[in-house]
Amino acid sequence: IQSILGRSDKGAGLAGQKVRIGGWVKTGREADKGSFAFLEVNDGSCPGNLQVMVKAVVYKLSDVTPTGTCVHVEGLLKTPPKGAKQSIELEVERVIDVGTVDAAKYPLPKTNFSLEFLRDFVHLRPRTNTISAIARIRNALAYATHTFFQKHGFLYVHTPIITTSDCEGAGEMFQVTTIINDAEKLEKDLKENPPPSETDIKAAELVVKEKGEAVARLKSAKASKQEIVAAVAELNKAKENLSKLHERWQLQVETYACALSSVYTFGPTFRAENSHTSRHLAEFWMVEPEIAFADIQDDMNCAEAYVRFLCQWLLDHCYDDMEFIKQKIDKTAIQRLEMVAKSKFHRITYTEAVAILEEAAKVKKFENKVEWGIDLASEHERYLTEEKFKAPVIVYNYPKAIKAFYMKVGELIGGSQREENYQVLKDRILEMGLPTEPYQWYLDLRSYGTVKHSGFGLGFERMILFATGVENIRDVIPFPRYPGRADL
Ligand code: 4AD
Repeated sequence: IQSILGRSDKGAGLAGQKVRIGGWVKTGREADKGSFAFLEVNDGSCPGNLQVMVKAVVYKLSDVTPTGTCVHVEGLLKTPPKGAKQSIELEVERVIDVGTVDAAKYPLPKTNFSLEFLRDFVHLRPRTNTISAIARIRNALAYATHTFFQKHGFLYVHTPIITTSDCEGAGEMFQVTTIINDAEKLEKDLKENPPPSETDIKAAELVVKEKGEAVARLKSAKASKQEIVAAVAELNKAKENLSKLHERWQLQVETYACALSSVYTFGPTFRAENSHTSRHLAEFWMVEPEIAFADIQDDMNCAEAYVRFLCQWLLDHCYDDMEFIKQKIDKTAIQRLEMVAKSKFHRITYTEAVAILEEAAKVKKFENKVEWGIDLASEHERYLTEEKFKAPVIVYNYPKAIKAFYMKVGELIGGSQREENYQVLKDRILEMGLPTEPYQWYLDLRSYGTVKHSGFGLGFERMILFATGVENIRDVIPFPRYPGRADL
């Protein structure tokens, strides 16, 4: 359908051509006392629907008109009668296949549904023009990401999802459930033996306290003292090595940057924070470039060039979808992309940002207190981008890290120049109360041929929110994951 309606003449010049199309009916209505029907059909290739005319002599009309019906048909493209809003329509000559719908049961209304309503139908929502436009924009941004980095000589590195290390010591990781399996194994091993002592149960409880059920089973199991002690030791070991879902790849990617110079990775990332905001997911996608021989200025140059490239890419490759988004979701969406693609980003230090905000706080009321040391709140980000600079802003030299953020979605990128000095890094790990042993490999990078290097992480869904003006992050990822939702 895109190859018909996406042309500059909107398909008008194709009249007389025979085509085969397949798609899903958005709306269908019978006309001329049931002698034929008009179907608005969409196949997900573009935001527009193709008007398809079926005569009652060709197919039973009530089987093709319900919203949601799948039609696979062949026919002739025709110029519609004068005054019609379509530039071309398809008259069906042969029906290849139909997937019918019981109209009384189909859960999606024809029009007027909210994105929030659609979240209960993640299996059907890609059939709506809005979600399919977002899916195409998401696809285009992924393609643009690879294009940008490949064009600039970066290598795409695949990084693992399962890890045991807590990269930044933030403690917000999902655990893979090996402990349950270990507890089950323990229970099985203990079945034939005498009951464990109270002390042993206490010790075992400590180890498996996350799993109340496993503890209950352990209590009822029969085991010898030695077996319990051995099992507790085994569980302790399992716990130490507990696999987790990684929350950023930065550390692993650094190993490749310190060998291949410019690399990036792009994939799902997990954060077990119990966050119910419209900007956080438990599973989101992150783009993480890592560049050797680069300092913080080079890092910001790369981030700025990348974000500008993404905006220009959407204007060049997704204009129809952006037009649709502009009409349906956010009037200023295209304007915003044009502005970012062209404008230079403002760069201010964290200290300067706080000074600007303190000045503003004299005449303006912020809900969150402004003082040196705070993490900037959304209202502060909004003030800097929308009121003060009226452009994207990069705030750098944060007390510990840098964070970049833009209008509308707030923070989009977090990144930094990495510590390349062995001793400084080791002291910092100890200062944070982390054990050095799991980070030995990371320290090794600093003792064998260390190099100045920098990188950043861009939250991919935040970029889609920024581009589309969609309010809730749960609407820009196909299958959102957040506290309480991990099915479908
Ligand atoms: O600022 P963050 O935590 O930075 C890092 O993880 C760095 N180690 C990246 C690096 O330097 N390689 O996360 C980076 C970005 C944020 O700016 C935000 O856009 C996004 O990831 N993000 C989330 N997006 C959706 N849901 C969440 N829960 C997110 N947490 C972070």
